[in-house]
Amino acid sequence: MLPRAPEELTNGKLRRIGEGIGRVVYASEHWVVKRQRSPSAVLALILLWKFVRRIQAALPGGLGARLLRRPGKQIRFLRVLVQSVVSLVPRGLWMMTHAGEVWRLYTAKDSRGYELAAEHLVGTGLIPATIQFPTTTVRVGGWPGYLNVEEATERVSSTLDRHLERCARLEDFDAVEKWLMRFLDLRRSGWSRGVFSTDAHLKNYGVIGDRLVLLDPGGLTKNWDEIGDRLAWESSVEAPHVQLGLGPILAPRPDIADRFDNRWRELLTEEGVRRHWPSATPHRGLSPSAGRSS
Ligand SMILES: Nc1ncnc2c1ncn2[C@@H]1O[C@H](COP(=O)(O)OP(=O)(O)O)[C@@H](O)[C@H]1O
Ligand SMILES: [Mg+2]
Repeated sequence: MLPRAPEELTNGKLRRIGEGIGRVVYASEHWVVKRQRSPSAVLALILLWKFVRRIQAALPGGLGARLLRRPGKQIRFLRVLVQSVVSLVPRGLWMMTHAGEVWRLYTAKDSRGYELAAEHLVGTGLIPATIQFPTTTVRVGGWPGYLNVEEATERVSSTLDRHLERCARLEDFDAVEKWLMRFLDLRRSGWSRGVFSTDAHLKNYGVIGDRLVLLDPGGLTKNWDEIGDRLAWESSVEAPHVQLGLGPILAPRPDIADRFDNRWRELLTEEGVRRHWPSATPHRGLSPSAGRSS
């Protein structure tokens, strides 16, 4: 633990640079701090997400898909609205609904993912570095204006989705392909440490120099029932690059799309993942833990 927070965190107001279902992220030059959303805010986002999904077909060109991909500015106002309705109904009642079930699942997966990262990935360079310091109040842009933090995370220069968009805009398709291969390499490095990400969206990965890191350990698992389910789903995906949102980026280069899809299909099978899994050699009935899904 450091004696105090880096000065750049307390010098000025931190800018809001990203958000997911569970967190809002603020940054200084080299560090980010994460604010965990309240349960009612997460529930409101889940309700909105369910609603947008239902009416997606009726929304004008791509708006639904955009709203679903990232809970950004457009949805913020709606969320606050829904959240005020959410808070009128007792939590216990929400928990009996499908949205409540999704909330429970999300929360459980999120905290398990962070635990698995602490156990298997800290110090490996596969995730950004974190620092701890005594509780410090920092000023942040927008509501609530300030935040108490005791940890900061190494800031990445860009999320992988944005980085690929930029490379494609510059028509540097060699770089696009190189980063896509690094993405696959990073996933494999995780498997060889006994964790699998069920939430492998491109915006959960970040670029630091020529290194790719996992930003959001939320969704990590080592449970083979879940991994198997996810892999079964993966095998039903027609074009993995489209599923990952890479359709527009790779449109000018179908050859890269093909190579990526083929590699993805090859790797994301039970066989492909088990080949890298730590107990890969002794398993298949030889070790006492063989076949145990934990
Ligand atoms: N270390 C980081 N550096 C820069 N941006 C980050 C960092 N961590 C997260 N972000 C941004 O914040 C977003 C949300 O963070 P994340 O940890 O994925 O929250 P959630 O658990 O809500 O999905 C990310 O998609 C990314 O855009
Ligand atoms: Mg995320």
